[in-house]
Amino acid sequence: MADHILKFLSRTALRREPSPIRVISNYLLSLPPDKDVLSLAAGAPAPSTFPLQSVSVTLKSGETLNIEGDAMAAALQYNRTVGQVGILNFWGKVIEEMQPHPGPERQTIVTTGAEFGSYLVLNAIIDEGDTILMSDPVYPPMLLKTKALNANVVPVAEDSEVGGLCPKQLQATLENWPPAKKKPKVLVLCPTGSNPSGANIPEDHRKEIYRIVCEHDLLIIEDDPYYFINYGKSLKSFLHYDGEGRVIRLDSLSKILCPGFRLGFCTAPPQLITYMERHYSVSLLNTCNMSQAIAAAYFEKIGIEGFNQHTQQITQYYKGQRDVIISALDKHMSDLATWIVPEAGMFVWLKMKNIEDTSGIAKLAMDNGVAFVPGEAFITENVKSPYLRLAFSLVPEDKLEEAVIRLASSIRQSA
Ligand SMILES: Cc1ncc(COP(=O)(O)O)c(C=O)c1O
Repeated sequence: MADHILKFLSRTALRREPSPIRVISNYLLSLPPDKDVLSLAAGAPAPSTFPLQSVSVTLKSGETLNIEGDAMAAALQYNRTVGQVGILNFWGKVIEEMQPHPGPERQTIVTTGAEFGSYLVLNAIIDEGDTILMSDPVYPPMLLKTKALNANVVPVAEDSEVGGLCPKQLQATLENWPPAKKKPKVLVLCPTGSNPSGANIPEDHRKEIYRIVCEHDLLIIEDDPYYFINYGKSLKSFLHYDGEGRVIRLDSLSKILCPGFRLGFCTAPPQLITYMERHYSVSLLNTCNMSQAIAAAYFEKIGIEGFNQHTQQITQYYKGQRDVIISALDKHMSDLATWIVPEAGMFVWLKMKNIEDTSGIAKLAMDNGVAFVPGEAFITENVKSPYLRLAFSLVPEDKLEEAVIRLASSIRQSA
């Protein structure tokens, strides 16, 4: 299966060559610290000229993380394109907890958020005119990146009852594929607490989707930043089913640590990571080393058990927010809209009963003191949408009902 990935690579990816300077510096970074090498190779600046000595970060618990000595030196300097060893080792443990299928070889690269991860992945596999299947509705930046590559996006609808990409729709799309048309290369989905639909793809649907993907020889981009905010049934990453090395998993620290650090991970077959690394090494060079150092120090302090407790606490927070907004929606909007109660993440996706196009009420709602994103932003085809997305992450619990009241009154006003 190892070389199987090569046929999916874009022409742009295959033209990418390793950066000769990075090859030498990555080799030097892999040597034991006591190896006596006087490097006249990389143009790294002299650490003695850096004005910074150490960093001390205070946690909300009152404890401190001190970045000093070797960790500080690594944080201040250029570093490995794939990411620093400390944070990669920790994320290796997190991936292990996901019980990935033991078969295929995988590698993880640190990315500048899941956003840059998906940018690298799409550039590595999509050529102009290639077809990409996307769960519809979809996270807009994924769609915009794909459009910019001039790819052909084919939407796959969500299951109308349980939500999440519908395996039957996927099967039907692929079985009815016009013989003269180039087959799709990849399926993109956001399987847990989908942005925007809030849906979880249930376990039996995950298995079925993976089976279909194998049958039709596709890759899967599993864009899963809400995986750790699942207050529904526990769910497995697609890595768990991935006996054939088809899954490209994107993780994000934005929702479980903070978005400002811009940290994420891509776990995929090593052949794909090699080409992503080549792209990275001529664009960002590496993800911010200070962010990596602070995150690694934090994870080292809390360990994997502490990480699980931390994500459970976050999950409880969002579950509380979900409960409050759903009870407000039940109270004030059940005559105006329908929705599936989200079981993960931070979004609820409303379908208006009597409005064909929610973009018309967005401005009025803002004038009335409440903001939302109209559904048309998340739809693969350029059509009006009766949906709208509410994010319940930011508004304080005691103001969520007021937000729903303002929304309901804007909708009534617009009728
Ligand atoms: C589905 C999805 N993918 C990716 C991202 C971006 O994540 P990051 O902040 O790690 O770049 C988001 C953020 O909202 C998201 O909802």
